[in-house]
Amino acid sequence: MSQLPFPKSFNLVFFGGTGDLVTRKLLPAMYQCHRNGHAEGGRIFCLGRRAITQDEYLATAVSKAREFIPASDWDDAEWAEFVARVSYEQIDAEKPADYALLKQRLDQSPAETTVFFLSVMPSLFTVICGSLAEQGLNGPDTRVVLEKPLGHDLASSNAITEAVGRHYHEKQIYRIDHYLGKESVQNLMALRFGNSFLEPLWRRMWISNVQITIAEQVGIGTRGGFYEGTGALRDMVQNHLLQLLCFVAMEPPVSLDSDAIRNEKMKVLESLVPFDAESVHRNTVRGQYRPGVVGGEPVPGYLDEGNIPADSKTETFVAIRADIANWRWAGVPFYLFTGKRLPSRLAEIVVHFHDVPHHIFPLPKSGTRAPAKLVIRLQPEEYIRLYLNAKVPGDSMELQPVSLDLNFAGKFTVRRAEGYERLLLDIIRGNQALFVRQDELELAWRWVEPILNTWAADPKGPEHYKAGTWGPSSSAALLSRDGHCWHDEV
Ligand code: BG6
Repeated sequence: MSQLPFPKSFNLVFFGGTGDLVTRKLLPAMYQCHRNGHAEGGRIFCLGRRAITQDEYLATAVSKAREFIPASDWDDAEWAEFVARVSYEQIDAEKPADYALLKQRLDQSPAETTVFFLSVMPSLFTVICGSLAEQGLNGPDTRVVLEKPLGHDLASSNAITEAVGRHYHEKQIYRIDHYLGKESVQNLMALRFGNSFLEPLWRRMWISNVQITIAEQVGIGTRGGFYEGTGALRDMVQNHLLQLLCFVAMEPPVSLDSDAIRNEKMKVLESLVPFDAESVHRNTVRGQYRPGVVGGEPVPGYLDEGNIPADSKTETFVAIRADIANWRWAGVPFYLFTGKRLPSRLAEIVVHFHDVPHHIFPLPKSGTRAPAKLVIRLQPEEYIRLYLNAKVPGDSMELQPVSLDLNFAGKFTVRRAEGYERLLLDIIRGNQALFVRQDELELAWRWVEPILNTWAADPKGPEHYKAGTWGPSSSAALLSRDGHCWHDEV
């Protein structure tokens, strides 16, 4: 994550240029980079099959961008300056003959670095990488960016690795997990490795369990076709949740060097206790939403969404107890929790500390007192909150949890960049620290595969939960059985 020098000139080529990711996220992110002076010397090529003019493309781009760029950051003149760097090229990624035109365009725009961002279905990765290589567009000054889903199981992921690896070296490949672009996730590193006081406590001796949650209010929207073949385990756990787990559990890296960080994450993935059919039944819960009310609005159930078969067994909710078999974490459950159509949108990591070994203060009527816990809220707000027990004023020695709050928004006045801004700049600079290495990807698939297989063989299918609730009740049982409960500050 160290600041490598920024190239004086670069080309950024977006395959899937008319798609949602490019128009809603990537172009707005590059606009912000432009405003901050980071796009100097950059040219952006948006590729698509549609026979539209440059003006027609930019007209759509501006209307999408305006939806996603905060009004306070919008400036007509700056947008006009920015789009002067952007060209639309009608190129069909599936037609190898079209790549000669791309090569011609790039030859007219010589640059230190050329980045090919493959915002397309993974089934196109092979033909794109092969056709680029045929034109000689895979030299050491080129990089290729892959968006998830990187396969639907270990074999298909390995096939992608093999196909891309035929033409590009691992040092040129950037696998995006957009969670790693979030400021809050990088702040987790700062919290752990920029302060010494937590280090002695950050282990099994003092921590009873860790809960990592990514909850969403949204359903699957118009993505039925994609989601039905994917499900929450592949969509959220195999990537985002496992990456968060790695950042919580990894040993301190020796530096911010890309491989120093990724080597430590790898060790965590290697230490994850593998699942078998019995532990899948014991330690995982899957659910599928039924009609309900979210944010005061009635919403349909999963089976009523577009492109979903009536007998679908795809999970929209997952809760898992994961275990890490190493000296630091043996015996500490890591509970992973994600779902769609839950009561609120939030992502957080909650570290629960052990209770005191001997109670000298009177216990409340419930007979238990919550031990200290550290809440690291990643979104929508970004804060760290440490809950401690403190004495209630008065003549008794009654204790009550109080919180010590650190709200990042209030502490820094500088603008917080969107995830893709940070990631795009890192790609252009050639910094791989926040990208997933091939061996990490493989281990993550290895770990989830027995869960996928056991679920596929189980005729029961997912449990149902009403939209607007926190998922099937058995997910709470996953913790209560171990003597824990979900952190419920929402
Ligand atoms: C994506 C998933 O990777 O992450 C989506 O495909 C999900 O299904 C999204 O909604 C959540 O990202 P964020 O940044 O909104 O929490």
